[in-house]
Amino acid sequence: MPAVTLSTLTGRRESNTPFSCLTAYDATFARLASDAGVEVLLIGDSLGMVLQGHSSTLPVTITDIAYHTACVARAGVDSLIMADLPFMADVSIERLLDNAGILMRAGAQMVKIEGEAWLAEGVEALSRRGVPVCVHLGLTPQHVNALGGYRIQGRDPESAQRIIDDALTLEQAGAAVVLLECVPSDLALEVRDALAVPVIGIGAGPDVDGQILVMHDMLGASLGRVPRFVKNFLIGEASIQEAFAAYHEAVVNREFPAEEHCF
Ligand code: KIV
Ligand code: NA
Repeated sequence: MPAVTLSTLTGRRESNTPFSCLTAYDATFARLASDAGVEVLLIGDSLGMVLQGHSSTLPVTITDIAYHTACVARAGVDSLIMADLPFMADVSIERLLDNAGILMRAGAQMVKIEGEAWLAEGVEALSRRGVPVCVHLGLTPQHVNALGGYRIQGRDPESAQRIIDDALTLEQAGAAVVLLECVPSDLALEVRDALAVPVIGIGAGPDVDGQILVMHDMLGASLGRVPRFVKNFLIGEASIQEAFAAYHEAVVNREFPAEEHCF
């Protein structure tokens, strides 16, 4: 696969050909996913749960994300490398810029940040400095304590409209990509249609430009309850590499997510 850049993702939106994304935290799995054609690798703060054994993503530090980003970058992948800004990485614009700088120097090509319209100033500061930003809207796991659990967002008209408005505000501020987690499929489609930038979904239905899953989940290596939007792609495949390829193909052909994975 030729090296994936932001313009690859924009082009895929324009040609209506979905791209696939997976979390990756180390060199071996990153290389396997890249070789299987997965376009984006996210060093997600989900590593706090799947690698570190925490019950939320809140304990993850910038040092943790930088370490795993460097591990992935060392694999020499063709996939675009996106890294999560962890909880409280943006307590000030200065801290946000410093933290994004740490991740970009570790090998990230894009950063992802959770929040709402109030992120606009930070998004603008980052994008002005050449740091592409993916804004994570809908269910934002760093807000688990405020949200009262990991539950679907944007169900009532008011909160749905708020997600659309937030996405538009952040696109205006310079967001390069929007990621929607756990929202109704029809809301995800509305957001996608309102924006010009690529939209990645997880539990957001089929009508977005890219799909993402946590690698452990799609290999059936989950310890707790498996969310509705997860599919185990290792079933029926002979290897992890083939499971990654099956996932990539299912996303590109719009066979995943199916009805049973959506809200
Ligand atoms: O941390 C993570 O893995 C994520 C994805 C689930 C989108 O943010
Ligand atoms: Na995350």
